[in-house]
Amino acid sequence: MSGLEFNARLRNIPVYPAAETYERSPDLVKLASNETPWGPPPKVIDAIQAQLETLNRYPDPDKSALRRAIADRSGLSPGRVTVGNGSCEILLAAGEALLEPGAELVYAWPSFSMYPHLAAQSGARAITVALDAHGRHDLEAMAREVTAATRLVLVCNPNNPTATALPVEAIDSFVAGLPRRVAVILDEAYVEFNTDQDPDESLDLLKAHPNLILLRTFSKVYGLCGARVGYGLGSEAFRLAVDRVRQPFSVNALAQAAAAEAIRHQDEVERRVELTVQERVHIEAELSERGLQTTESRANFAWVSLGDRDEGEVIAGLAKLGVIVRAGTALGQAGWMRVTFGTRSQNDRFLAALDTLL
Ligand SMILES: Cc1ncc(COP(=O)(O)O)c(C=O)c1O
Repeated sequence: MSGLEFNARLRNIPVYPAAETYERSPDLVKLASNETPWGPPPKVIDAIQAQLETLNRYPDPDKSALRRAIADRSGLSPGRVTVGNGSCEILLAAGEALLEPGAELVYAWPSFSMYPHLAAQSGARAITVALDAHGRHDLEAMAREVTAATRLVLVCNPNNPTATALPVEAIDSFVAGLPRRVAVILDEAYVEFNTDQDPDESLDLLKAHPNLILLRTFSKVYGLCGARVGYGLGSEAFRLAVDRVRQPFSVNALAQAAAAEAIRHQDEVERRVELTVQERVHIEAELSERGLQTTESRANFAWVSLGDRDEGEVIAGLAKLGVIVRAGTALGQAGWMRVTFGTRSQNDRFLAALDTLL
């Protein structure tokens, strides 16, 4: 009741469903935000520390060193690399650069909970397309929704929250069938965990599709979500558009240095993927033994059907036992929960808490 007059669009902008893990005891088992359980490697911490004494200076607005490091790793020119304050910033900026009242965007649902913000902030119309019975994108149905008004299509692969992934070939033919004036953002926040494909495979799609943007992040496998860095790989025109709609210094100096160092340690990425896959196999087997069904996860989390159990009771019961997971209702599908894979001991605490409850 402040008496302030806000703009009319504000009413439509959803409140992001943040997990309840902040400011809680350190021995809480946090399996609610698809984070990795490991802190940054020592060399990344050194890179952050080396920046501390220059914090009186603004960060590099061009993010030159980081863009070069990403470009080297991706085989693209730095001009095609957009860096953001988390990949969320790039998503929202893309919405601002591409959308307006009268325009449309198409995405699957349930999918990443930031997507509804794009239409709400711009006044564009969101067309959502239901996932198939296995929790996968229905690309044919999505293609049918593309009209003369469509400016942007979002594809989340692997999809959050259902953890499923589509093969690169399916995405290739989907994008090939769309008009080139329509931007396609392939959100690959979890791509490193998808053992069906090498993360480099989707880079090849950029050669064939000038309207495609791959969206990736340092928040997941690199374990830097607290630093907030993500990146987009696409055309130079896309980068320039995104840069025009946001403030120049959005990616702080510590984050730029941390990410530029982290991307050099692909051996560490591989080690983390291997550990995560071991936990994926372990949790899926244990859940299945308990009669709980999951979708086919290609990410660092499981999407678990609770059958006819009361979702609210399960989530609250786990929280009481010190284990935080995400309720399906908050993510677009009641009767499910999303569980991030932690370390073996965290995962076993989750399983033990489930046994106490069920
Ligand atoms: C599908 C997807 N995309 C993007 C992000 C955003 O990540 P960030 O802004 O931390 O890069 C997330 C985070 O959970 C996600 O699940």
